[in-house]
Amino acid sequence: MQKQFDVAVIGAGAAGMMCAAVAGQRGKKVVLIDHASKLAEKIRISGGGRCNFTNINAGPQNFLSQNPHFCKSALSRYTPQDFLSLMKRHRISYHEKHKGQLFCDDSSEQIIDMLKAECGLGNVEWRMPCSIASIGKSGEVFRIDTDAGAILASNVVIATGGLSIPKIGATDFAYRIARQFGLRMVEPQPGLVPLTFDSAAWQPFLPLAGIALPVEVETGDKKARGEFREDLLFTHRGLSGPAILQISSFWKLGTPLRLNLLPEIDVATTLIDGKTTIKKNLGNVFAQWLPARLAQGIIEANKLDPTARLADTPDRLLRSLGDAINRWSIQPSGSEGYRKAEVTLGGVDTRELSQQSMMSNQVPGLYFVGEAVDVTGWLGGYNFQWAWASATAAGLSI
Ligand code: FDA
Repeated sequence: MQKQFDVAVIGAGAAGMMCAAVAGQRGKKVVLIDHASKLAEKIRISGGGRCNFTNINAGPQNFLSQNPHFCKSALSRYTPQDFLSLMKRHRISYHEKHKGQLFCDDSSEQIIDMLKAECGLGNVEWRMPCSIASIGKSGEVFRIDTDAGAILASNVVIATGGLSIPKIGATDFAYRIARQFGLRMVEPQPGLVPLTFDSAAWQPFLPLAGIALPVEVETGDKKARGEFREDLLFTHRGLSGPAILQISSFWKLGTPLRLNLLPEIDVATTLIDGKTTIKKNLGNVFAQWLPARLAQGIIEANKLDPTARLADTPDRLLRSLGDAINRWSIQPSGSEGYRKAEVTLGGVDTRELSQQSMMSNQVPGLYFVGEAVDVTGWLGGYNFQWAWASATAAGLSI
């Protein structure tokens, strides 16, 4: 007779390995299936090879979802401290980089090895690389047809992530299965992604490519507003850096970003008040505040002479300079898309899932965890925390 598993977990990334390990260690017979030939590529490349594996301050406020309350249950039951205890058991050292972001001291490979070892402790069986042709359910049993034969399981956990970075194996598998079983979806779109401008509009900014500076950026209205203070990077195609990746998840096509390039200084007031005391010319004043090429670009864009004395420059022009720096409004024309996006916004609609167990309300035994679900974290370790927490919620309830 064909062997039947308690759980088939599909996708051996962050959430899939965690879920398989938790269920396996509870004595469930688990099979973990992935189509990739290299294990957990996203963990490997994350955090510049050191994996920003959690954020010590992670809470529901750091996540976007049509239902912002959905993530609370899983996040409160599996916290960053829980993941740190696991790291401690595996003697993996780490450090805080900034704003609560925790990275491995050595390499993201250590996280992969740890999760593999945890799966080993749960006697998880592996099928990898293994392609899945279809999933069906007959009575209480799921049948998964793969290129290595059929697999039967009482429960199926879909942990195949989102659409970001197709070249390392991302697919729309989770969304197809959700639709097949009649679950609603929230339209996916790229998140944590550089923003672009049409090439003619961006022409004047090309000389600024490579410049980075700390800024404040915001977008949206009262209903859905994002606001971050982080570094901005000018690129050949538009804007990037942590400030832009963060705000990109809140930005809607056709709406502007508002940037403050000098958050510490009220430029117009400082210049007007300083007319009698600051003896420098405009170029020199700006060069002490901003990277030289950017200072020059702003002065030129405002058709001002950098050698003009501050005292001789009309208040009206100083106010417009202040607006250009403290209230720069700019409208991107798009983003770099899934090719460069760190995450996918949207996914399986949380109204379809139990927040306790991550199981479908309509299809008993079918679970969705990790990035496949409409819960998306900010930049800074939050997305892995969601992967660990949602996977543990499912692993404990199967
Ligand atoms: P994940 O994508 O990790 O795993 C999905 C698995 O499913 C993969 O192994 C894939 O091969 C498999 N799969 C897909 N389709 C399949 C199919 N049809 N059949 C079988 N298997 C299939 N987050 C963070 O918190 N800190 C960080 O430092 C970073 N850094 C980072 C850098 C870069 C470059 C990217 C692209 C992303 C990040 N992230 C991040 C985001 C983070 O990597 C992401 O949110 C989690 O990996 C999501 O975990 P999942 O397990 O849900 O999906």
